[in-house]
Amino acid sequence: MAVSVCVTGAGGFIGSWIVKLLLDRGFAVRGTSRRADDPKNAHLWGLDGAAERLAMLQVDLLDRASLRAAFDGCDGVIHLASPMHDNPEEIIEPIIAGTRNVVEAAADAGVRRLVISSTIGTMYMNPHRDPNAPLDESSWSDLEYCKKTKNWYCYAKTIAEQSAWETARARGLDLAVVIPVVVLGELMQPSMNTSTLHILKYLTGKAKEYVNESHAYVHVKDAAEAHVRVLEAPGAGGRRYVCAERTLHRGELCRILSELFPEYPIPTRCKDDVNPPKKGYKFTNQPLKDLGIRFTPVHEYLFEAVKSLQEKGFLPKVSVTKVKKNVTQRRSSPLQMSPPPMLISKL
Ligand SMILES: NC(=O)c1ccc[n+]([C@@H]2O[C@H](COP(=O)([O-])OP(=O)(O)OC[C@H]3O[C@@H](n4cnc5c(N)ncnc54)[C@H](OP(=O)(O)O)[C@@H]3O)[C@@H](O)[C@H]2O)c1
Repeated sequence: MAVSVCVTGAGGFIGSWIVKLLLDRGFAVRGTSRRADDPKNAHLWGLDGAAERLAMLQVDLLDRASLRAAFDGCDGVIHLASPMHDNPEEIIEPIIAGTRNVVEAAADAGVRRLVISSTIGTMYMNPHRDPNAPLDESSWSDLEYCKKTKNWYCYAKTIAEQSAWETARARGLDLAVVIPVVVLGELMQPSMNTSTLHILKYLTGKAKEYVNESHAYVHVKDAAEAHVRVLEAPGAGGRRYVCAERTLHRGELCRILSELFPEYPIPTRCKDDVNPPKKGYKFTNQPLKDLGIRFTPVHEYLFEAVKSLQEKGFLPKVSVTKVKKNVTQRRSSPLQMSPPPMLISKL
């Protein structure tokens, strides 16, 4: 019988790639969703092996019994389900209480290992950190600073991860945490997701200038592979794994995008023409490299992300020749309105 793994938030951006990887490797997958028959998860049924080895279950993160039922008989759990915006009224409970319930339910169900998807926002939001020291598993964001700057997503994810470590220790549960940065690449799911919105605004003409900020980026397939390797590797428990390929200033990100897709009105000016370009955090991804992850270079995943936006109809295909003729007109009329932006700025 195939070994079972439960993936919460299975139909999301990263979740869909994890489900695909697990099915390709012969696992039986229990995917969870707040609505098991949600049409936005229908793409999962088209995956090879889904008909035989995928089950979708309805789970409420605030209902521990529903989690326990989903995890029963599973070898491992990968917890991804999470809101990704900055409205404290809507995110604090599912992120903090939801993660605590996942840890308790995984311990009750006796799973071999729980892997949680945290965020780099649990590491770098700290005004006292040394900017020259790479972020590693000992780095933690400062809760007061998150509160003061109203970065509620980072605040909630930091508390959730810290309390997950405490509970796992108390319950003797094997926990490992993957810490993704901004995840980009091909979308499997039909709907837009927060991290893809991060680049969409630069392609549609909605953002006329870029901000003076730097972030780290990673390919969605590498992020999925990281979760699965961390779940599988015998000695991988008990650690926090930074899942990042490189840090880029937003100007550099826009430059690469316009090199790849010169037909779109990608900004060439920074909003801040006074200060020098802000440097991003450094990090170490060596622990994931040690598990065999080979990080894909940024040109490749930006290319795949934009192609995917075109294929899914989020971005019109524009011919370069046509654009050259209509530069003035196009600059004054954005190509397409993106979906309403979510508030989050620190993924
Ligand atoms: N994408 C990134 O750049 C990035 C970076 C750092 C960390 N992460 C972390 O990676 C995980 C997955 O991210 P993703 O990009 O795949 O996100 P996503 O596409 O938005 O998927 C997350 C899934 O979580 C479920 N969800 C959303 N709001 C929820 C709520 N209030 N209560 C319970 N479930 C909820 C949704 O599934 P249903 O609607 O089917 O229930 C959704 O499909 C998250 O934990 C996120 O914090 C992502």
